[in-house]
Amino acid sequence: MSLLFLLASFFLCQLVLSSFAICPRDQSLALVEFNHSFVVDASASLFCDKQSYPKTSSWNMNKDCCSWDGIICDEMTGHVIELDLSCSQLVGKIDSNSSLFQLSHLQRLNLSMNDFDGSHLSPKFGMLASLTHLDLSWADFSGLYGIIPESIFNLPNLETLDLSYNDQLNGYFPKTKWNSSASLMELNLVGVPKCLWNLTHLEYMDLQDNRAKGPLFPQFTSGLQNLNTLRLSNNSLNGEIPSWIFSLPLLSQLDLSNNHFSGQLKEFSNNSVLVGVDISENEMQGCLPKSIQNLVSLVWIILANNQLQCPSSQVTPEPHKSKIT
Ligand SMILES: *[C@@H]1O[C@H](CO)[C@@H](O)[C@H](O)[C@H]1NC(C)=O
Ligand SMILES: *[C@@H]1O[C@H](CO)[C@@H](O)[C@H](O)[C@H]1NC(C)=O
Ligand SMILES: *[C@@H]1O[C@H](CO)[C@@H](O)[C@H](O)[C@H]1NC(C)=O
Ligand SMILES: *[C@@H]1O[C@H](CO)[C@@H](O)[C@H](O)[C@H]1NC(C)=O
Ligand SMILES: *[C@@H]1O[C@H](CO)[C@@H](O)[C@H](O)[C@H]1NC(C)=O
Ligand SMILES: *[C@@H]1O[C@H](CO)[C@@H](O)[C@H](O)[C@H]1NC(C)=O
Ligand SMILES: *[C@@H]1O[C@H](CO)[C@@H](O)[C@H](O)[C@H]1NC(C)=O
Repeated sequence: MSLLFLLASFFLCQLVLSSFAICPRDQSLALVEFNHSFVVDASASLFCDKQSYPKTSSWNMNKDCCSWDGIICDEMTGHVIELDLSCSQLVGKIDSNSSLFQLSHLQRLNLSMNDFDGSHLSPKFGMLASLTHLDLSWADFSGLYGIIPESIFNLPNLETLDLSYNDQLNGYFPKTKWNSSASLMELNLVGVPKCLWNLTHLEYMDLQDNRAKGPLFPQFTSGLQNLNTLRLSNNSLNGEIPSWIFSLPLLSQLDLSNNHFSGQLKEFSNNSVLVGVDISENEMQGCLPKSIQNLVSLVWIILANNQLQCPSSQVTPEPHKSKIT
């Protein structure tokens, strides 16, 4: 009997709690302040696939902020864990002092398809330590002094980062070795032309086991002069392996295995310092280029599981130099 009573009061309590405001006051104030930094203008969201509309116009102080359009709160704590204001026709700046950065429990933040009017990509995004998904695409962000803040790449739980189509984002990557293998799974930099041209400081690039698709851009090239290791294995990259990869002056380890690369292998550069090359598990055709003889540092090259076929007279590498499997 008393157990039943306890249970009943427990459920009553739950009911009362969940029907009352659960959004903490500091969070709703931060959201309102954030809301006030914008004006609404339909032209800011012209490129949305779906119909854009100002989600914030339904935001109402008399209602629990967890019920506002675009907001999801943690059911237990009430903290705002998701903010999706994509395609919301917002125009205005997001400065480092923005109240957005007080929403410290955010796990998913989507500000895609708005007009933040050349706002510098603030290092404060890197303080939102719970972020798993950050989508700032098509939003007119620019780089602060040409730098994409390193803090963003150090977010411990970040799985996807979309900075695509911010064509003023003319920054280069952080100088330190950028090691994304911690948790970053998807990085979208399509349409960030100046950034791709200016990866000059990158020494180590590891994008294994991502979900990267499509061909490798020809323009991904000239900046990568410092790169010594490039690992792109286990993605869905296709098209030809661009020749610039084999011209990178300091590249010693190259792993392109388990993709859908096709076509013939391009010529290797005379000055190449490649030590290890793995192109296995692709759809490459034809022969090894003769210039493989120029690869004086080469210790191993793995070509298994391709469609390479060659008249025997053309198979060239000197056996003491290269282990071909
Ligand atoms: C948020 O902004 C919209 C449009 O700018 C406005 O209509 C709405 O009243 C604001 N809501 C709050 C709670 O500030
Ligand atoms: C962000 O919103 C856009 C538009 O609604 C959507 O296409 C995109 O998938 C969203 N991004 C994430 C990471 O959910
Ligand atoms: C944030 O800083 C900018 C200048 O950097 C200033 O114009 C703006 O008013 C500040 N906003 C707030 C909410 O303090
Ligand atoms: C590339 O980065 C350098 C700094 O290393 C900078 O001086 C230059 O302006 C950048 N170029 C572009 C096109 O952003
Ligand atoms: C990159 O990070 C992974 C996992 O955190 C670590 O095992 C690896 O040694 C790092 N590589 C470099 C070159 O820092
Ligand atoms: C390739 O990546 C997938 C996830 O994208 C993973 O499940 C699989 O184990 C990886 N395979 C190898 C050989 O690393
Ligand atoms: C590369 O080296 C080979 C043999 O040493 C030479 O015949 C060829 O002209 C060189 N190619 C270039 C582009 O320097």
